[in-house]
Amino acid sequence: MRINSKYLFLTITNFCFMYNLDWKNLPFGYVKTNYNVRCYFRNGKWGELEISSSEYINLHMAATCLHYGQEAFEGLKAFTGKDGRIRIFRCDSNAGRMFDTARGIIMEPIPHEIFREAVHRAVKLNKQFVPPYGLGASLYIRPLLIGSGPEVGVKPAKEYMFMVFVTPVGPYFRDGFKPVDIMVCRGYDRAAPLGTGCYKVGGNYAASLASLELAHNKGFSTTLYLDPKEKKYIDEAGPANFFGIKNNTFITPDSKSILPSITNLSLQQLCNDLGIKVEKRPVLFDELETFEEVGACGTAAVITPIRKIVDPDTNRIYEYCCEGQPGPVSTKLYNKLLAIQNGDAADMHGWVEFVD
Ligand SMILES: Cc1ncc(COP(=O)(O)O)c(C=O)c1O
Repeated sequence: MRINSKYLFLTITNFCFMYNLDWKNLPFGYVKTNYNVRCYFRNGKWGELEISSSEYINLHMAATCLHYGQEAFEGLKAFTGKDGRIRIFRCDSNAGRMFDTARGIIMEPIPHEIFREAVHRAVKLNKQFVPPYGLGASLYIRPLLIGSGPEVGVKPAKEYMFMVFVTPVGPYFRDGFKPVDIMVCRGYDRAAPLGTGCYKVGGNYAASLASLELAHNKGFSTTLYLDPKEKKYIDEAGPANFFGIKNNTFITPDSKSILPSITNLSLQQLCNDLGIKVEKRPVLFDELETFEEVGACGTAAVITPIRKIVDPDTNRIYEYCCEGQPGPVSTKLYNKLLAIQNGDAADMHGWVEFVD
């Protein structure tokens, strides 16, 4: 482990800085923290974890991440419980997904143990940036894997850089757990039918920006993507998975072009625990009118209840929720998952890891 020579000085400076953080009004955005953790794959092997206080990466101009999109990232969170202990939610699942993503775009996968160690170390080193219990805020953890070796022809890099940085974030929606309106998007796809939609690679997000901008400009919170092949099935709700509720059943799309959401998997498990049936299957767009509740799920907001889905091509509006309030099943699932993350409910499935 290499510690930057400014380590001590920065610790003291940043310790003072952190007390100026306005925990109650944290944005869902980037706030500088003290350290990040890095690891390099060179000469066929991963090196030791290194600690850096720099927010910048020194990169070769021909690095494959810059030209051929060899880039993968993850997003997970750490929370402070009422007991003051810091909990990281489902670190292993994120490690597994990053491993699969790396394989999917022929990058050197980051071994689980290195991923886990780097995440824990990044949280521990920035402990004072984990927001206190009870404000809906958390420490967002962003692991990043990039092809750093130079190539000019289209081929995978021989060198990789893995890093983990963290940033304290407020709740994704400032107004809390309130339903939003979204817009059907047929003019854009975020992923191809057999493309990289099931991996967490930057290219998918670049492909989604134009449609998201369009939706935001029209006053919608996000877009509803349909399957890229036939536009018959529901794929995802912006950068989140989609679910619908009817007849005490949680229904969520099975599609090759969507990201396997860890929040969605957690909600499915909670449904099993709570006696709610789960169906993971292709979901016809025409089924929208039959749902009692619909929502989007992901790490950022856990559940975003959806009030209205507007289809600009047919002028149809699908409406949900009771008087602007989230539906009862969504509310129950949301509260339960949050309680586990915050340590207010028992962690029956071993999802939480402590940073002590
Ligand atoms: C495209 C996309 N779908 C779904 C999700 C939700 O995944 P998770 O629950 O693992 O955050 C995300 C967020 O990571 C996403 O970017």
